[in-house]
Amino acid sequence: MTGPFFEPVGTCCVMKVDLLRAITSSVGSKFKILAQALATLLLFYPFMLHAETDCLSCHSDKTLQDAAGQSAGLDIDKFHASIHGSVSCTDCHTSIKEYPHAEQRTTVKCDTCHADQASAIGGSVHAKANAHPCTSCHGDTHSIFPRSDARSAVYPLNIPRTCGTCHASETLAKKYGLQNVYATYMDSIHGYAVSKEGLLVAANCMSCHGSHNILSHKDGKSTTSRGNIPETCGTCHAGVKDEYSAGVHGKMVASGNTKAPVCSDCHTAHAILQPTEATFRMQTTPICGSCHKDQLATYRDTFHSQLGLLGGYVETARCWDCHGAHGILPASDPASPVNKANLIKTCGRCHADANASFVQYQPHANPHNRKMNPALYYTRLFMNILLWGTLSFFTLHTLLWFIRAKKEQRKSRLAAEEKHD
Ligand code: HEC
Ligand code: HEC
Ligand code: HEC
Ligand code: HEC
Ligand code: HEC
Ligand code: HEC
Ligand code: HEC
Ligand code: HEC
Ligand code: HEC
Ligand code: HEC
Ligand code: HEC
Repeated sequence: MTGPFFEPVGTCCVMKVDLLRAITSSVGSKFKILAQALATLLLFYPFMLHAETDCLSCHSDKTLQDAAGQSAGLDIDKFHASIHGSVSCTDCHTSIKEYPHAEQRTTVKCDTCHADQASAIGGSVHAKANAHPCTSCHGDTHSIFPRSDARSAVYPLNIPRTCGTCHASETLAKKYGLQNVYATYMDSIHGYAVSKEGLLVAANCMSCHGSHNILSHKDGKSTTSRGNIPETCGTCHAGVKDEYSAGVHGKMVASGNTKAPVCSDCHTAHAILQPTEATFRMQTTPICGSCHKDQLATYRDTFHSQLGLLGGYVETARCWDCHGAHGILPASDPASPVNKANLIKTCGRCHADANASFVQYQPHANPHNRKMNPALYYTRLFMNILLWGTLSFFTLHTLLWFIRAKKEQRKSRLAAEEKHD
């Protein structure tokens, strides 16, 4: 063996070689093999230590470059401060044993020490995201810090920026047919809480997607697949999740029927707003209505909706002010806020003087439905007959008038012609 690593240099090595001799001669032949193995380990130990010093004798020069002009220098202080500071160069760069380095250097494999993470990445959407998938999120391998350290690329407050190195790119989004979610996330309540308030407990990308085992939302096993979303948001919003699970929507989703809404249908996934914001209140009414078309149409006819449609934003009753937002129940359920028995209380939140006759008012008055709304139905029918009757009468009247006028005109013209002749 040649090269700088294997020249027996330094007093340390000489001492170890002496020790080896001493050990092997002092034990009986019975333990000789064991003693020799131990001694060999001792002998090579200094060379391993020596190897790092040797690598650094060249690579601590930050201006060092390879033939392609790429930097081959290391920030030694940073490396030693990093989580791998005590891992020796050759534990990762296993194929580099001498200088000049071999032509073909194999890429560093992290699997040897991090088998679980490597196999999770292998099965995830990111298996081929980068030439070295691990460095795509952890950054420069020579300066990886514990995830609890603010210098780490995967420190909770840094995660959006880390994922954003790719997911803020239009080109990547277009290439893989994905939405470009970074900017919308940053403007959301979670993004604001993470980036502006430095709130560690707010949702960053990892809170919803996981770290190494990220799957497409089309995969049923993904934390972001439709059926799993309530569970995912519920890890933090436990109270809301419980209310939702007790309601008609939550029960349907739990039973596997994903026609009912999950959290992200009403709140979106990345553009989540504070529910008190006018924008949220205005955009969510049509969302309920996208599934409940009839109720939206009838709501649109009521005073509450008309009020909401006036110029600008007006505070009025929206769907959830009467029905609740999460634990929604059928009107027939005694616990529903729109059950007949609870209407005075429900309407009374805004109409202080609400009484039994006030709540006779129909929030979904559908004049087309005779059985549900007989009074309205017949009123509408009467009004229609009156309207069409009046219109028909006057149309006929006008028509006859017109014909008569034409006849008169013709008569007087003939009379005039006769006179002329
Ligand atoms: C005598 C100086 C010297 C020593 C000692 C040395 N290297 Fe290098 N190393 C270089 C130079 C110069 C380059 C760039 C040219 C090349 O690729 O050979 C380089 C390149 C590399 C590269 C590839 C960089 C690239 O951009 O392609 C790696 C990895 C590397 N060295 C690791 C090591 C490790 C690990 C050790 C210790 C076991 C070590 N080197 C010891 C001088 C040295
Ligand atoms: C935790 C594993 C690990 C340790 C420890 C490590 N490296 Fe690296 N090193 C890598 C990875 C990963 C790369 C990226 C290229 C690749 O995949 O081979 C790399 C790249 C390099 C390069 C190429 C230039 C660059 O920065 O990308 C040099 C030079 C290098 N390492 C030298 C060293 C030296 C010298 C040491 C010891 C002081 C060391 N490495 C310790 C994993 C490691
Ligand atoms: C898509 C981004 C991403 C990729 C790619 C990635 N990681 Fe991670 N990694 C993370 C995040 C985020 C954390 C923080 C996890 C936490 O805080 O629970 C993490 C944490 C870790 C940890 C700490 C222990 C743990 O599991 O939480 C290790 C070790 C690790 N990663 C190794 C790797 C290795 C090895 C690879 C490549 C095989 C890799 N990572 C690829 C995002 C990634
Ligand atoms: C020779 C073994 C070895 C190799 C190879 C190795 N690591 Fe590590 N790694 C460690 C040790 C030891 C720790 C510290 C373990 C601990 O504190 O739990 C660690 C910790 C980590 C952490 C965890 C930081 C945290 O948040 O706790 C990450 C991330 C990480 N390594 C990434 C990598 C990547 C990426 C590679 C490949 C480029 C790699 N490691 C290669 C030994 C290794
Ligand atoms: C509050 C939870 C949550 C957070 C935080 C979150 N996501 Fe998502 N993400 C989801 C859900 C749920 C989906 C499933 C599809 C949907 O509803 O849009 C999704 C879908 C995606 C998609 C696929 C979109 C498509 O076009 O199919 C990407 C890419 C993505 N997220 C990346 C990110 C990144 C990057 C971040 C951080 C900047 C992030 N997500 C933060 C919940 C979240
Ligand atoms: C090196 C660039 C890169 C980084 C960094 C990265 N991703 Fe990705 N990500 C991709 C690419 C490329 C795809 C598409 C893979 C495919 O479809 O084959 C993808 C796909 C995804 C998807 C799947 C979208 C879907 O539903 O189909 C999600 C979710 C996602 N990434 C989230 C994240 C999160 C969260 C992080 C940070 C922890 C992150 N990514 C970091 C490149 C990256
Ligand atoms: C990691 C924990 C976590 C996860 C997971 C999470 N959130 Fe949040 N969420 C928070 C925190 C913390 C806040 C408060 C932020 C603030 O007030 O600045 C918040 C705020 C909100 C708000 C605004 C509440 C208000 O009163 O202003 C809504 C709505 C919301 N999240 C919906 C969701 C939805 C939907 C999901 C799943 C797609 C989700 N969250 C996932 C932690 C989380
Ligand atoms: C059918 C639509 C819908 C679904 C599904 C839904 N929400 Fe809401 N959410 C709303 C509305 C509307 C509000 C505003 C309530 C209000 O202002 O009284 C709200 C309010 C919130 C708030 C603010 C605190 C509160 O209770 O007012 C949080 C947090 C929240 N939702 C999280 C979630 C989570 C987590 C899920 C899934 C388990 C979910 N939402 C499912 C419509 C929905
Ligand atoms: C993604 C579609 C979807 C959205 C969005 C949605 N719902 Fe529903 N909702 C359903 C389904 C499906 C049922 C089950 C009963 C049915 O078939 O009508 C249901 C049931 C109900 C019921 C009970 C009716 C009954 O017949 O049992 C009420 C009340 C209700 N939703 C109100 C709302 C309100 C208020 C919103 C908005 C805050 C909303 N829904 C948003 C799909 C949706
Ligand atoms: C002012 C209060 C109020 C508002 C606002 C309101 N509703 Fe209702 N809703 C009721 C009452 C009371 C009932 C029960 C009587 C009825 O069916 O007319 C009801 C019935 C329903 C039902 C049928 C429930 C069942 O069990 O049969 C659905 C679905 C529904 N509403 C959805 C909506 C949607 C979607 C919106 C918004 C577009 C909305 N509601 C707005 C008060 C309201
Ligand atoms: C979130 C608050 C809110 C709730 C809940 C609510 N309303 Fe209203 N409603 C209003 C506002 C605001 C107006 C317009 C101002 C006014 O006239 O008080 C209005 C107007 C009305 C009007 C027409 C004007 C009037 O006062 O005569 C009727 C009728 C009415 N509401 C009935 C109801 C009934 C019945 C319920 C319960 C099923 C109900 N509202 C629930 C906010 C609400």
